[in-house]
Amino acid sequence: MDQAKAGTVTMGKKNKTGRIAEVNQFPHVIQYVDFEDEHELKGKWASEEFNHENPITLELACGKGEYSVNLAKKFPGRNFIGVDIKGPRIWVGAKEAVEQNITNVRFLRAFIDHLENYFSKGEVEEIWIPFSDPYLKKPKKRLTSPKFLNIYRKVLKPWGTIHLKTDSKVLYNYTLDVIKREDLNVITRIDDVYRDAPEHELLTSIQTYYEKMHLKEGKTIHYVAFQLTP
Ligand SMILES: C[S@@+](CC[C@H](N)C(=O)[O-])C[C@H]1O[C@@H](n2cnc3c(N)ncnc32)[C@H](O)[C@@H]1O
Repeated sequence: MDQAKAGTVTMGKKNKTGRIAEVNQFPHVIQYVDFEDEHELKGKWASEEFNHENPITLELACGKGEYSVNLAKKFPGRNFIGVDIKGPRIWVGAKEAVEQNITNVRFLRAFIDHLENYFSKGEVEEIWIPFSDPYLKKPKKRLTSPKFLNIYRKVLKPWGTIHLKTDSKVLYNYTLDVIKREDLNVITRIDDVYRDAPEHELLTSIQTYYEKMHLKEGKTIHYVAFQLTP
């Protein structure tokens, strides 16, 4: 029977309810705690979860986790954690990690607003933010707003790098403006990734679900990498 007619919404290989049920069972998907609580893994990801001290990279607003999964494959000497609140999206990357036996990737289903409940100061070495919502009318909700940068300061090593990749000119210019106002250190700035840096493998060989949609629409992809220290 047509599943749409039967009342279920199909999402690729599994429907939404099936994805939620399965993602809740995956041992490498860590579920959120109450907003007020600290997670038991805080400060202990190396000793209790990964069992070694390799540096940790977060992919924020990871969606289906393309950066987490593909960076984990490229860099076996590092650990990767995709963070998003939506379980059915996380399921896609989590499933791929299981099927391909990728051992250095985890997913955290939580609000990015509460990162300090999950990580202690300096526990994270790098952050990727691919195609986060631009929140055109609510700048404070943007993941590069001063509010969020202050959250990252509580978990990121002082020299840690933040990578923003976006199709949104508004979010890109806003981020460059925040960087300028806070006198932060820009490591790399690429206004048009596919025109100006086609050889930049990490930027062009990994494409997220949203990026593919934006590219189909002919949008320009922007990138900036920066540090929270001046
Ligand atoms: C536009 S989608 C991009 C997903 C993915 N990065 C991609 O490029 O395909 C934005 C994602 O951010 C997540 N998100 C937005 N705000 C969030 C927050 N405060 N905490 C956790 N996840 C958030 C949403 O659930 C959604 O999956």
